[in-house]
Amino acid sequence: MAPEINGPPGVICAGLAKTWPGGVDAVRPTDIQFAAGQTTALVGASGCGKSTLLRMIAGLETPSAGTIEIGGEPPAQTLRKAGLSVAFQDPSLLPWRSVRGNIELALSLARRPVDRAAIDQLIALVGLEGFADTRPAQLSGGMRQRAAIARALATEPRLLLLDEPFGAVDELTRQQLAQDLPRLWEARGTTTILVTHSVTEAVMLSDRVIVLSPRPAEVVADIAIDLPRPRAPEDARKPGFAAHVDAVFAALSQAGALRDRPLAAQ
Ligand SMILES: Nc1ncnc2c1ncn2[C@@H]1O[C@H](COP(=O)(O)OP(=O)(O)O)[C@@H](O)[C@H]1O
Ligand SMILES: [Mg+2]
Repeated sequence: MAPEINGPPGVICAGLAKTWPGGVDAVRPTDIQFAAGQTTALVGASGCGKSTLLRMIAGLETPSAGTIEIGGEPPAQTLRKAGLSVAFQDPSLLPWRSVRGNIELALSLARRPVDRAAIDQLIALVGLEGFADTRPAQLSGGMRQRAAIARALATEPRLLLLDEPFGAVDELTRQQLAQDLPRLWEARGTTTILVTHSVTEAVMLSDRVIVLSPRPAEVVADIAIDLPRPRAPEDARKPGFAAHVDAVFAALSQAGALRDRPLAAQ
């Protein structure tokens, strides 16, 4: 059942579609609204078009059809005003700058004040205390991803787009981030759209999970995650949580998304 959307939608996609040059249909004409201040997870089979959808919302790919509005503006405008941040699986940090240097650059580009204490707080939040002055090459893949998350949060975007940002992060740190990050998003009222292949993570982090069909992506289920917050790792074993995980898996299964490559339960 579709959840109720309170307040003005943060992001409105109308008739959004993407056909790549060469003819690959990645996203079928799709209407999706993401409510302001909510966290929404997109799940679907590998290759179904999740990243394509997110990159269009980020203004990094041009739609073949349809429109995107972020608070009434096109993505390019939001991007220009530094109103949105992305953290993708490939963290794309500048190799010659430290973790702090990468974050400071993002702030300068966004014309935001560089507040050393606030940066240190963010670095600690993502578990990189002691690594502020380290360059990306000296960090593990998971640590680089966490640095990219800190960088994305630093500019306090209205819209945060995360594409499998914890892919290389170890399980314990992942659980810690799943507890800490939503607190920050909620305190700031950030609209967050998260792509993950972990159903448990989607349920843990989100107010709503949108299940996409195998390629070309279209919405097959829209599941409200009306579980209390804050949520802790041990909550994943409670019946209410498990019921939501089951509902997402059932929708994925019905859509044929589990046929080739099962999605991770963890
Ligand atoms: N830059 C690109 N050029 C051409 N085809 C692409 C490009 N990026 C993705 N695709 C194709 O679009 C489809 C969806 O890809 P993607 O959005 O990355 O899926 P997901 O993130 O769900 O795994 C795939 O068939 C992929 O090969
Ligand atoms: Mg992807």
